[in-house]
Amino acid sequence: MTELAINGGTPSKTKPFPAWPQYDQREQQALIDVLESRKWWRTEGTCVTKFEQEFAAFHGAKHGIAITNGTHALEVALAALGVVPGDEVIVPDSTFVATASSVLFAGAMPVMVDICRDTECIDPDLVEAAITPRTKGIIPVHLGGHPADLDRLTEIASRHGLFLLEDCAHAHGSEWNGKKVGTHSVAGTFSFQSSKLMTAGEGGIIITNDDEVERNLRSVHDCGRLPGEWFYSHFAYGSNYRLSEWQGAVLQAQLERLDQQTRLRDANGAMLDRLLAEIPGITPQARDPRCTLNGHYAYIFHFDNSEFAGISTERFTAAMNAEGIRSQAPYPEVHKLDMFQNGAYKSRLSGSQAEEEHAFLRADYPNSRRAATEDYWIPQYCLLGDEQDMEEIVAAIKKIQANAASLG
Ligand SMILES: Cc1ncc(COP(=O)(O)O)c(C=O)c1O
Repeated sequence: MTELAINGGTPSKTKPFPAWPQYDQREQQALIDVLESRKWWRTEGTCVTKFEQEFAAFHGAKHGIAITNGTHALEVALAALGVVPGDEVIVPDSTFVATASSVLFAGAMPVMVDICRDTECIDPDLVEAAITPRTKGIIPVHLGGHPADLDRLTEIASRHGLFLLEDCAHAHGSEWNGKKVGTHSVAGTFSFQSSKLMTAGEGGIIITNDDEVERNLRSVHDCGRLPGEWFYSHFAYGSNYRLSEWQGAVLQAQLERLDQQTRLRDANGAMLDRLLAEIPGITPQARDPRCTLNGHYAYIFHFDNSEFAGISTERFTAAMNAEGIRSQAPYPEVHKLDMFQNGAYKSRLSGSQAEEEHAFLRADYPNSRRAATEDYWIPQYCLLGDEQDMEEIVAAIKKIQANAASLG
């Protein structure tokens, strides 16, 4: 039996995964061009405007509004959609805090519901059960790049007169029924933070096909201004959420790689799905057949320790890391975050909403808990590797399984 790397053996990984972020002469030249243009601000520059148009067109959307980051993109979208104190917005319990905290920023209450056990995206049945007269909208998250059930969610939203806002922070380029995410609803928000599928270190964008919503978004993101009006006229609530030309320039170059990278991640993800199906105790995030392209922000699988001599997920993760397989932490359950358990979230609420007990914060979310405590996430850049990289991931898991008793 080969010794595990964590116990002093040779790692399964024989070569490094591709580096991330990726760049070449295109980003370098674009940055020099911005520098020398002396137009570093979007208001007088061209890079951000061009990037907005190109990113929106790539996703099949009419408009793109570049934003400082993905959290702000959610905040701007909720302001533009008219979310106000007293409202409720339904969000998944398994996501980054921003999906929920952006609702609090609007002074409204995020209502978490559990995810589906197989796809790990928001459960449409539980969404429907959570709707109250105060519900204003639903924010599904396309977790790990896999779209939430957009057929069910769009039907539920339209039957109840709610907005659907897609949080696409993980899903640049992903498709549902052959159509890119972010275009199945009133708007889609994206993040360009460093770990994301394309990046400028920080950044975000909102895409929409709705002209009226676009006007509101653009105004909120630029201090309440309106396009074409005098610079010092401010028509509504807004703040400064504008992206800089540096980021616009880098993102234009990053977008040129997105299609090819998405297809590579999708193909490598499909290869891992096939190979991992052979390993007892390893269950990849399920792929709905209506997901026609998965941008794969992460490759996610469930780890059942009963097939691994009962070792903890932490021990498995440490052993994988020692074998040279990278990981990123799955999300903790949102409703269990300190601010929701210690009551701090109420400082953002007002009126009776601030006084009420929110019983769902004490509920059990079995699928979200299972994902938080038993999942392993392989970061997206590992899926930019070759077949050997995928085979080495599989070999590492098999090796740990064969030697699991030595990790006890
Ligand atoms: C699902 C989700 N939504 C929103 C965000 C917020 O994006 P940003 O980090 O750019 O603010 C993230 C970032 O990790 C995310 O994963």
